[in-house]
Amino acid sequence: MVITIDGPAGAGKSSVARKLAQRLGFHFLDTGAMYRTVTHVAMQQGLDLQDVTAVESLAAALEIRLEHDRVWANGCDVSISIRTPEVTRNIRHVADIASVRQILNRKQRTLVVRNDYVTEGRDQGTEVFPDAICKIFLTASPEERARRRQRQLLANGQAIAIEQLLEEQNLRDDQDQNRDVGRLFAAEDAITVSTDGMDESQVVAHLESLVRTKL
Ligand code: C5P
Repeated sequence: MVITIDGPAGAGKSSVARKLAQRLGFHFLDTGAMYRTVTHVAMQQGLDLQDVTAVESLAAALEIRLEHDRVWANGCDVSISIRTPEVTRNIRHVADIASVRQILNRKQRTLVVRNDYVTEGRDQGTEVFPDAICKIFLTASPEERARRRQRQLLANGQAIAIEQLLEEQNLRDDQDQNRDVGRLFAAEDAITVSTDGMDESQVVAHLESLVRTKL
């Protein structure tokens, strides 16, 4: 069984999907981490990210392992290095390449064969798992998402103005919603959940009740 959670950056998908998976006894797949890993390794190897053939070869050969909250690329722990602002800024070059998306889609479909999964990303319900048993489109207003991000950063000792965060977020939304393949949109049969005014535990409980009606 596959449950998909798609939505824009900052909607809280990862932590909610992880907790939902725990409650259901499912595995959890963070597909953004896969795009981040290809981008990070490509940058580390000094590849030209505009060189489609080079990035495609890398994505095909790279062994990406996701275990609990850690990510491994060819046996190296890259859990921290895939989350830097430089990687985030460069992901679009990788995520825009149709052949790279096909390679990662295949890896994602192969992974879920053996177990039940909650998968999280941008194209899970639309492209990768069109037959998922339950599809959620998780969203929140741009202001709410930026405020949450600001609180997260502050907790890590970084004070960043809300205007700057909104600007970066709008750019990412625009890139995610307008790529030629794998663009972000809600599948026709997805349930849209707006999390404005809800805390994480309320969102998880709400999603669990939605999902359980489908199991
Ligand atoms: O979810 P996260 O913010 O870590 O994803 C990083 C980026 O990877 C997204 O902004 C998006 O461009 C890309 N991505 C994607 N398809 C997915 C998951 C992530 O294109 N299924």
